[in-house]
Amino acid sequence: MNPEEIRRDFPLLKDVIYMDSASTSLTPEPVLASILEYYRGYRANVGRVVYRLSRLADDLYRNAHRNVADFIGAEEGVVFTRNTTEAINAVAQGIKWRRGDVVVTTASEHHSNLLPWMRLRDMGVGLKIVKPDPDGSFDPASFEAAIDGDTMLVAMTIASNVLGTALPAREVSEICRERGAPLLLDGAQSVPHLPTNVGDLGCDYLCFSGHKMLGPSGTGALWMREYDLLPLLVGGGAVEEVDLEGYTLKGGYEGYEAGSPDVAGGIGLAAAVDYLRHAGMEEIALHEGRLTRRLLAGLLDIEGVEVYGSVDSRERVGIISFNVAGVSPTEVAHLLDEGSDIMVRSGHHCCMPLMRHLGLPAGTVRASLYLYNTSEEVEELLAAVEEISKMA
Ligand SMILES: Cc1ncc(COP(=O)(O)O)c(C=O)c1O
Repeated sequence: MNPEEIRRDFPLLKDVIYMDSASTSLTPEPVLASILEYYRGYRANVGRVVYRLSRLADDLYRNAHRNVADFIGAEEGVVFTRNTTEAINAVAQGIKWRRGDVVVTTASEHHSNLLPWMRLRDMGVGLKIVKPDPDGSFDPASFEAAIDGDTMLVAMTIASNVLGTALPAREVSEICRERGAPLLLDGAQSVPHLPTNVGDLGCDYLCFSGHKMLGPSGTGALWMREYDLLPLLVGGGAVEEVDLEGYTLKGGYEGYEAGSPDVAGGIGLAAAVDYLRHAGMEEIALHEGRLTRRLLAGLLDIEGVEVYGSVDSRERVGIISFNVAGVSPTEVAHLLDEGSDIMVRSGHHCCMPLMRHLGLPAGTVRASLYLYNTSEEVEELLAAVEEISKMA
């Protein structure tokens, strides 16, 4: 991985220090080029027509599914969605729930991995919510206690989008296997940053966002071990055969992508995956680990700054939540933007229950790193935070 070369692919980085990749990442030139190529060279719908533009679009769109599957260690099973939220909702709506079924989730989830289960609870499905320790970490024993023969699904994130800390996904996967409970993992904050293999993770569903991993906005994916869900949508494009008595859906991902899909998005997402593969996921993880360690150590050294979650960088991704005493998170984010061109997120990060658990009603400032961030940028952030802390 060559950071200088990488930064040339993100012209925006000449003007700003972008540290909000946990929300959405920037998009490199080769991904933009792949999208333009589609629009300029072979724009057509997929799966319907025989002329050559459509055949080319169809081939590339189909290959994009294989490519994304390969990126997470699968052969197939990838369905394109708009984002992680849609992928999780597709699972929530796609399981044939029966009376007595229970979902187990955690209090650290992004709202997108909580509300779909709350909605099911309103419709009579049981919901157990495993709580973290005061510092946001989880004891696998609390999952042991929650998962039993009635558990129809365990849905948890691999890494917290607030604290950056890893949840015990592998341990939970073992418990699920022993007890026959299917497992959904929310990979929104891990798939873009860590090598991922669904076989090693031992999950049944993996949901992630293409737009957080250099792909176009409005892209995401759901991987399923078996095509065992009812599709979220039915209609044109997904149908093998239909008469007025009924219909048969196509096999594979096509049965789950009714309607004209975001062809450019899918092709762009495959280009993003190629880009990440070329940079090397191991190297990306090491690079982010180095930056995270420095950022954590630097923040902990500033008087009046409090960092949340585990500071053990082996157990986290490059997301760091902190506050500056006497200055609200929103104000810190404003000051960083206006004074230093640093873009960070502030607030509850779509995790209100976790914020309540941590006793942080105004939320936190969140800096999130990616392959294009540098140690110089981390030093600039630290210097700017130190200045702000002196104002308080
Ligand atoms: C852990 C986690 N899950 C789900 C989501 C929702 O992702 P999207 O907005 O792409 O649907 C996010 C977004 O930040 C996230 O961090």
